[in-house]
Amino acid sequence: MAHQLLEGKKGIIFGALDESSIAWKTAEKVHEAGGRFVLTNAPIALRMGKINELAEACDAEVIPADATSMEELNALFEQSMEKLGGKLDFVLHSIGMSPNVRKSKPYGDLNYDWFLKTLDISGISFHKVMQTAEKLDAMNEWGSILALSYIAAQRSFPDYSDMAQAKSVLESIARSYGYRFAKSKKVRVNTISQSPTMTTAGSGVPGFDVFFSYADKMSPLGNASAEDCANYIVAMFSDYTRMVTMQNLMHDGGFSSSGITEDLIKELTK
Ligand SMILES: NC(=O)c1ccc[n+]([C@@H]2O[C@H](COP(=O)([O-])OP(=O)(O)OC[C@H]3O[C@@H](n4cnc5c(N)ncnc54)[C@H](O)[C@@H]3O)[C@@H](O)[C@H]2O)c1
Repeated sequence: MAHQLLEGKKGIIFGALDESSIAWKTAEKVHEAGGRFVLTNAPIALRMGKINELAEACDAEVIPADATSMEELNALFEQSMEKLGGKLDFVLHSIGMSPNVRKSKPYGDLNYDWFLKTLDISGISFHKVMQTAEKLDAMNEWGSILALSYIAAQRSFPDYSDMAQAKSVLESIARSYGYRFAKSKKVRVNTISQSPTMTTAGSGVPGFDVFFSYADKMSPLGNASAEDCANYIVAMFSDYTRMVTMQNLMHDGGFSSSGITEDLIKELTK
């Protein structure tokens, strides 16, 4: 039996596509911890994915919303408060997509309309989510808002392409909106910078398998799994982390603090 860390808390979880999604694992863990929530994803993803199975298992409603549309976000937050019976305590933004990566555009030949789409979907949508929540006064005091990031926001990873810029925008928005929301509502805003994880978005990056194994060897604890990430998110939604805000939190098994590891030396001297 899981600790009921989120008993009485209500929220919205964006981005559960299939069982491998970080948001899918998060929904399961939040449910186990006693939290109630609405699941949401882009209308097209809802048609293709199997979110209804998850919704049934977690006793959750599904409300479609494209996270780049203010109109759809507005309807999502209004309907979520109605269905859950009041204001929200947590929001997970677990959204990422780059048309340039998807269509294998080299970094020196980016399509700029697609670049703007990458920024809108993967970065600016986080601002749109929070602006909507703030304008509707949808968050309870001491609520917790999280988005998922990746270390390519700080360091170059060639195949991550324009997603690196989107993650920098995302982390910067967490600091700026985190300040604003702390002052107005005592709501905390953070990003979690997660290890490479085998999901639809993750494995869409070219050379992902090799990269996954490199990161695993470069991390003294190994790569953090989607399930580990979900547990961390539960902790960040709970009352035990009330004073953590405006942070980019590394959840990477030690990758970001390692120069080299014995495992990698062994591999390179083979
Ligand atoms: N997988 C990794 O290696 C890894 C590592 C670090 C961070 N992340 C981040 O974790 C988050 C979740 O990704 P994941 O790995 O679970 O993959 P995933 O493919 O399961 O999730 C990405 C989700 O984004 C949704 N999405 C795309 N466009 C949208 C839109 N316009 N509106 C609403 N939703 C939209 C997709 O439908 C999908 O559910 C992303 O932000 C990703 O960048 C992933």
